[in-house]
Amino acid sequence: MIDLFLLALIAGFITVAYLFPIKANEEDLTTSPVGFLVIGHLHLLKEPIHRSLRDLSRNLRSDVFFPRLGSRRAVVVTSASAAEEFLSQENDVIFANRPLASLTEYMGYNCTIVSAALYGEHWRRLRQSEPEHYTDDIIKGLVQVMLLAGTDTTAVTLEWAMANLLNHPEVLMKLKTELNNVSVEGRLLEESDTGKCPYLTNVISETLRLYPAAPLLVPHASSADCEVAGFDIPRGTWLFVNAWAIQRDPKVWDDPEAFKPERFESETHRGKYLPSGIGRRACPGMGLAQLVLSLALGSLIQCFDWERDNDVAVDMSEGRGITMPKAVPLVAKCKKSLPILDKVVL
Ligand code: HEM
Repeated sequence: MIDLFLLALIAGFITVAYLFPIKANEEDLTTSPVGFLVIGHLHLLKEPIHRSLRDLSRNLRSDVFFPRLGSRRAVVVTSASAAEEFLSQENDVIFANRPLASLTEYMGYNCTIVSAALYGEHWRRLRQSEPEHYTDDIIKGLVQVMLLAGTDTTAVTLEWAMANLLNHPEVLMKLKTELNNVSVEGRLLEESDTGKCPYLTNVISETLRLYPAAPLLVPHASSADCEVAGFDIPRGTWLFVNAWAIQRDPKVWDDPEAFKPERFESETHRGKYLPSGIGRRACPGMGLAQLVLSLALGSLIQCFDWERDNDVAVDMSEGRGITMPKAVPLVAKCKKSLPILDKVVL
């Protein structure tokens, strides 16, 4: 009986939702797609989400738009100039909060982990690592964040970098030559060598441009009502910055879909290159990630000669997941590169 009642209630809800689409506010008319009661615009989101949000932005012809995620009001930003408006100067402080979510409440020690903490004294203490304030839960939270935010992002980027190199043998050759010239005595790349490998740095930057491990950054939330880019935005609005779309925007990048590490030699990319975010919530681990990526990628290229499997182009489509993994895991052939591998104890 109760089951039947519940079923009727749900069916009624769905009918009402579809019969009465959400009426947008005056200001939202051009900047919100058509949504429905209860679900808002959730039905428009298809995997990969960053692609469907970029397409929605194109259809609406607006680089700032306001989808509703169920009952939650959100704003999605798809241009470098709008991202800068939201995350610089006084707006950066307003959008320095993170959304409160059940996930981080239950899994993130009641939202005290640094990536989920509300902007304020607690967050500042964590970012300036004032250990005298740490409780056991805070220490466990820090370890959790380092594992969650630090491992998968770096591993996924390494896989995309290798995939790009295999699809661009001329880039792979140029990188190998740079690495051989840096360690002429045939030893493995060391931390102090990475500063002498600009091409290696550019290969990693170009990989993070096309395949950012956090394509929508991490959601921000506004802590007060504000006006940004001509829109009135209420407190508690979730902000998604589509870094993936911004880093492929043909209005600001020359030949944006092409993998060209050389572009980082000359182009200025302030504002339009943001794989680690911008503003005060930007990634504090990027320096470490850059170093680990340089050493790992550099050693792989130094120690082995790489080839594509069956000489078929590597599939570069994006799979499901927060850190934008490859849809098809990378398979490649390698043989040891002499004489360096003989000198390395594996
Ligand atoms: C390729 C590697 C990495 C990428 C692409 C990446 C990207 C990002 C991005 C986009 C954000 C959010 C920025 C924003 O909200 O605007 C972030 C936040 C964060 N990242 Fe990373 N990250 C990487 C590696 C790491 C590593 C190695 C660590 C630490 C060991 C780390 C720790 C964090 C933390 C703690 C935050 C939260 C900062 C806060 O909310 O105050 N990340 N990262």
